[in-house]
Amino acid sequence: MPTSIKKDFPTYNVRRFLEPGPIVLVSSAHKRQTNIMTMGWHMMMEFSPALVGCLISGANHSFELIRKSRQCVINLPTTDLAATVVRIGNCSGCDIDKFSEFGLTPEVGTHVRAPLIGECYANFECRLADSGWVKKYNVFVFEVVKAHVATSPKLPKTIHYRGDGEFMLSGEETRRWRKLFRPGML
Ligand SMILES: Cc1cc2nc3c(=O)[nH]c(=O)nc-3n(C[C@H](O)[C@H](O)[C@H](O)COP(=O)(O)O)c2cc1C
Repeated sequence: MPTSIKKDFPTYNVRRFLEPGPIVLVSSAHKRQTNIMTMGWHMMMEFSPALVGCLISGANHSFELIRKSRQCVINLPTTDLAATVVRIGNCSGCDIDKFSEFGLTPEVGTHVRAPLIGECYANFECRLADSGWVKKYNVFVFEVVKAHVATSPKLPKTIHYRGDGEFMLSGEETRRWRKLFRPGML
């Protein structure tokens, strides 16, 4: 039984419901320059190798650093970093060094030259796996080649973007529907 009346909704705004989150910080490096951008438009594309599709606007300073270096780090911030995450996503690395401006700690990775952000809960070192969609969609398909994840808390409180300046913070966790999965589909 349908639960509510639905009305026509503008397709350009379906992102308000489909944005996957969590919001991440993408760090990059090319030659002597490093940078950070905020990103909500990403999606998992494969388990193993772990592929992640990322839409990085060509207007962003990060775009060329990533296109040229063919690497980045996807960093997972938690709710305590929310204001910083928004500020990072509202300025350009063209004008400032975002690590020093926002008091973030660059850490050395093992597989890529792009710096990890020490304050983030997890850091995923990525190498460009497929640039076939960059020209048409600004979508980079990365392979996560190394993952660093904090041991505690077990489930991080992440930040999710609904668009138009509205956020959702991760909340209740449940295994209520776990038994409905077929073995191997978990
Ligand atoms: C919540 C949030 C989500 C964002 N998601 C994306 C995204 O998915 N892709 C993108 O290209 N820019 C996104 N942006 C915008 C960039 O983070 C922003 O343009 C940033 O200033 C780029 O930095 P840069 O020019 O130093 O690379 C987002 C910004 C915010 C605040």
